[in-house]
Amino acid sequence: MEATPITTPRSSTQSIQNPPESVIEIWGGTPLSGHIPVSGAKNSALVVLGGALLCSQTCRIRNIPDLMDIGRMTSVLEALGLSVDRNGDTLDIDGSHVSHSKAPYDIVSKLRASFFVIGPLLARLGVARVPLPGGCAIGARPVELHIRGLQALGAHVHMDHGVVHAYVPGARGKLKGAKIYLDYPSVGATETLMMAATLAEGETVIENAAKEPEVVDLANFCRAMGAKIRGAGTSAITITGVPSLYATDYSIIPDRIEAGTYLVAGALTRSEITVGPVDPDHLAPLLSKLRETGSTVELEDGNNIRISPGERVVATDIQTLPYPGFPTDMQAQFMALLTLAEGNSMVTETVFENRLQHVAEFNRMGADIKVKGDSAIVRGVAQLSGAPVTGSDLRASAALAIAGLAATGKTTLYGLHHLDRGYEKFEEKLRNVGARLQRVPLSEADSAAQPTPSTVTDSQAVSAAN
Ligand code: EPZ
Repeated sequence: MEATPITTPRSSTQSIQNPPESVIEIWGGTPLSGHIPVSGAKNSALVVLGGALLCSQTCRIRNIPDLMDIGRMTSVLEALGLSVDRNGDTLDIDGSHVSHSKAPYDIVSKLRASFFVIGPLLARLGVARVPLPGGCAIGARPVELHIRGLQALGAHVHMDHGVVHAYVPGARGKLKGAKIYLDYPSVGATETLMMAATLAEGETVIENAAKEPEVVDLANFCRAMGAKIRGAGTSAITITGVPSLYATDYSIIPDRIEAGTYLVAGALTRSEITVGPVDPDHLAPLLSKLRETGSTVELEDGNNIRISPGERVVATDIQTLPYPGFPTDMQAQFMALLTLAEGNSMVTETVFENRLQHVAEFNRMGADIKVKGDSAIVRGVAQLSGAPVTGSDLRASAALAIAGLAATGKTTLYGLHHLDRGYEKFEEKLRNVGARLQRVPLSEADSAAQPTPSTVTDSQAVSAAN
């Protein structure tokens, strides 16, 4: 299919529109109390929206968080010809008409996850053209595992002027099932290949597949549309291709990283709060580490977690790993907690090669952290002090904000475009449990306190990091 030039239609959500530049001012030292509600999982929602491309009918998807990234993903779908209607946290996606096979660069460059439409596009149309997403602040983030897997399924793939062109040769344009071994259990590659294989001819086995809950959520969504998928959540996923998928009504799982961020906020501020709904199994590595630091963590009513502070925060080591290891997306927030622990902790980042940039910003707040290779040695201090800080990526921004809740005085958080990509109603949810924080236009922020980021370059500050 030859695609015509694309003009990006207006998004069906308001989230994509850039708000005026602002900062969040946080006054620390107030304990939190009450319940923090958890939204649908951003990373599930993003890939499930991509998965809706596989279906030529209308899918209803519920529990979608209202986030900048979701707005961008819906814009990609609309640019490909789908129609998307948002009603509260529910999206109706009509996939009867896919008019373009090329995803627009201006959005893919801002939202890495939109590269993942390559699998469903190829499965559905036999052709896909998606700009290479490029690296971001946390690492180079190549996509060769996605591409090699698509080639194993019979696609021809080449790069031309920064765009990945993929097509399935032959009149039928159908991918063919294959055995694919991933060199690394990449979440995105597992998702791309699982989606592509749902409409392929024959059986596909993905070995060394990612086991993240978001992969399982995508598999459940595809199964709800009639796909035949076994083994999601284990390291071998088997997909038996079917000719077509049908409409479904599906609800996204709760966001384990959002929940984890607020649980750590409770531990940091020495507060007793509940957070939910969650699937406690999804949070197992974090809950275990929170207990090691002295917090009491209990399951309540089946899907809420209550966290209560211990006498002190005990130092511990963490190492990020693919699921069910400790999540890289919780590393920065947990490091915030360890800055106030009694004793020394070691934080080792093994998933991304450049995800310790928040260290310099924590040190600006009085933390004592040294980076050596892919590890950070955190010497606990008695107190953090509020400071102007800038997050280098989404999770670093959230980590600095919750550190500010525990610090003395005022913290001013800059670079909110990261935070807004991944946390729905961040200030509102925290304010409702007693936190003191507010968003103010940059022009009204104390200009004398404006940081000169030591680690965040201009190009990193605008890059997409999900
Ligand atoms: C997903 O990214 C998440 N994003 C990330 O969430 C999360 O940090 C990450 O998984 C790990 O859990 C979405 O789901 C949208 P990967 P993804 O492919 O799929 C290397 C957040 O804060 N790799 O599992 O891109 C890669 O460079 C974010 O919400 C290759 O080498 O992660 C990285 O080092 C950020 N070649 C490692 O694997 C490839 O072809 C893990 O990446 C693909 C990946």
